[in-house]
Amino acid sequence: DDTKAGVKGLVDAGIVEIPRMFIRPIDELAEELIQGKSTLQVPVIDLSGLEVEDARKKIVDEIREASEKWGFFQLINHGIPSSVLEGMIDGTRKFHEQDVELKKEYYSLDRTTRRVRYHSRIQLSQSKTVNWRDSLNIDWMVSGQIEPEEIPPVCRKAYVEYIKHVIKLAETLVDLLSEALGLKPDHLKAMECAKGQAMACHYYPACPQPELTLGVDKHTDLSFFTILLQDQSGGLQIMHNNQWVDVEPIEQGLVVNIGDFLQILSNDKFVSINHRVVAKKVGPRISTACFFTGVSEPPKIYGPIKELISEENPPLYKEFISSDYITKFFSKPLDISGLDHFR
Ligand code: SIN
Ligand code: FE2
Repeated sequence: DDTKAGVKGLVDAGIVEIPRMFIRPIDELAEELIQGKSTLQVPVIDLSGLEVEDARKKIVDEIREASEKWGFFQLINHGIPSSVLEGMIDGTRKFHEQDVELKKEYYSLDRTTRRVRYHSRIQLSQSKTVNWRDSLNIDWMVSGQIEPEEIPPVCRKAYVEYIKHVIKLAETLVDLLSEALGLKPDHLKAMECAKGQAMACHYYPACPQPELTLGVDKHTDLSFFTILLQDQSGGLQIMHNNQWVDVEPIEQGLVVNIGDFLQILSNDKFVSINHRVVAKKVGPRISTACFFTGVSEPPKIYGPIKELISEENPPLYKEFISSDYITKFFSKPLDISGLDHFR
């Protein structure tokens, strides 16, 4: 039953050495010691002036370039008030820092039957090692619409407020992504790419031996795209030109990344990039990822968008049913990409 106190429970118990299950394989640790670290900067895109034609064109160009070369960008002046962002971070902190007895009620690893799940060590059965984080997952509209009463009381108000704003931003973003792909502005929206929000609210406790473990293993996201809110701690890194690049926190900024589905739909024009979170001596670090995955019921058929393929640019993926991709994604180790199975 101790597992229900999460990684935070270990820290609260005063451990000074991390348990073996969190320690990454020795070859992986050795490889990182010799690997350099990049000082490049993830593109930052300013959304102000979206209504003005010239400004919008420039934004679309920036989104295209970032989605092709990086698979990641940061947004500023995105329109979500700072009080809403702060409320979201604060709500997540409050959830994870409340009494364990209150958290236990939400403890579950079963994503098929529970739409609100608090858990840690989720990859225990599938991965080499366990990650140094606890999470609260809320499937807002993946299989049916969630009711606010299902959200834990300590964070309910803040989460309901945040999701409202983040969905609005996602609707703006899909139009821009469509344009960036050279499609009609509503193409991706018509495919319901801004639907099916699955939110993951992470809490990465301070770690006594951060160099031995990870907050989360490298992975690509199961989504069309993901909107990520991070606090000012830092720790998120993305793979770019074979090096890890820090995604430096920006006050009131939001991180956007392209997920597997959009890489497939765009026939590899936009890229779903490996990213991870390193553990840190100081903490906690708090973040919220909102995955836009599309609704799973009824299942949809996905594949490269017809308008984007031609004789010179043949489809790189077979068509598949969305639910098959999702099943595959959750049955593989997190650090192995699901994309190759569908090529
Ligand atoms: C994730 O990609 O799983 C989490 C990212 C983050 O916490 O910044
Ligand atoms: Fe991720």
